[in-house]
Amino acid sequence: MNLSLEKLKVDNNLFLAPMAEITDYAFRRIAKENGAGLTYTQMVSAEGIIKNNFNTLIMLSFSRDEKPIGVQLLGNDPDILGAATRELVKFRPNVIDLNCGCPVEKVFSNKMGAYLLFEPDNIGRLVKKMVDNSEGIPISIKIRLGAKDKVNVIENAKIIEENGASLITIHARTRKEKYDVDANWEWIKKVKENVSIPVIGNGSIFSAEDAVNMMNDTNCDGVLLARGALGNPFIFNQILSLQKGEKYTPTLSEIGKTALHHIKLLEREQGLIKNLDRAKKNIIWYFKYSNGIWELIEKLYSVNSFEEIKKIVSEHINNLEQNYYSEENLKEISKKFNNKVLFWLAKEEEKILR
Ligand SMILES: Cc1cc2nc3c(=O)[nH]c(=O)nc-3n(C[C@H](O)[C@H](O)[C@H](O)COP(=O)(O)O)c2cc1C
Repeated sequence: MNLSLEKLKVDNNLFLAPMAEITDYAFRRIAKENGAGLTYTQMVSAEGIIKNNFNTLIMLSFSRDEKPIGVQLLGNDPDILGAATRELVKFRPNVIDLNCGCPVEKVFSNKMGAYLLFEPDNIGRLVKKMVDNSEGIPISIKIRLGAKDKVNVIENAKIIEENGASLITIHARTRKEKYDVDANWEWIKKVKENVSIPVIGNGSIFSAEDAVNMMNDTNCDGVLLARGALGNPFIFNQILSLQKGEKYTPTLSEIGKTALHHIKLLEREQGLIKNLDRAKKNIIWYFKYSNGIWELIEKLYSVNSFEEIKKIVSEHINNLEQNYYSEENLKEISKKFNNKVLFWLAKEEEKILR
């Protein structure tokens, strides 16, 4: 591993991306158990932290055995970000990240997330304030190529470095491109040539081969996986295997065991009612590449307990082992899943996917 990542105390340079409503404790733990070198919480509001907002605190809570872990902040006010960083320092995460990439309209119109990319000098001020309050905990910044369609990623990266950040993550799409087009890795390479702090590459990694190709093509110091890890936490170990010249394919029994383990972790946090929906969503992702996916979705819609979900999953694995389902065009299905940002597969979305 690149020595420049030593500050983060990670075993490897394969990171799980922050994903809203997805990278909760259960998801992060499963990713770590399957080889991720570092995981991120979803973005949390800096203002929510200093106001002790209950939901914000739940979203950023992590346990000691999750380390190395990063917490991601959303904000645009230097004083609030500084104060939130000071609060976070008490919990000693391995890295504190600032979100400069969220394209969502509500965030953008509040001049946060990707909006910050318009104002490199302002990003510089925010980074400095976070660094000054971080007591040595590395500060990282996650940016896109540009706030609209104009690319200013190199200018932003240089300012981020000058103001003391320890790490930059490049999501190689502009805000306008949202998640819809292939990421343009060429820019990751260019940023790497222009700064000396570590650069983590992100965008369009859906297989172990993609990750290795990105590292080879761009010379980046590590990779950040987002949609490629949905229902496929195995991807981290697949990359580690590929780097050793080996190929690892999880068996159906491993996939089933991991999916059930994932549900149990979510079940432990029963207090969160939304975890039932979250369990269903994750189960769909685990089996999105196999026959019988539509039957599975149909059954999951109608149930209302973790017990029923577990029963459906066990039956589904059994059916798959018996080759019970008819053959689907799996290539086509996985393409549709990859191209869509699935917050939750609603009935209408299912129709579109079909
Ligand atoms: C459902 C979803 C939620 C996301 N939430 C966040 C977030 O909270 N913070 C963030 O920086 N990026 C977030 N992202 C962006 C990802 O971290 C990543 O940059 C993006 O998906 C590109 O990587 P990919 O092409 O491998 O999916 C989110 C992406 C998705 C699909």
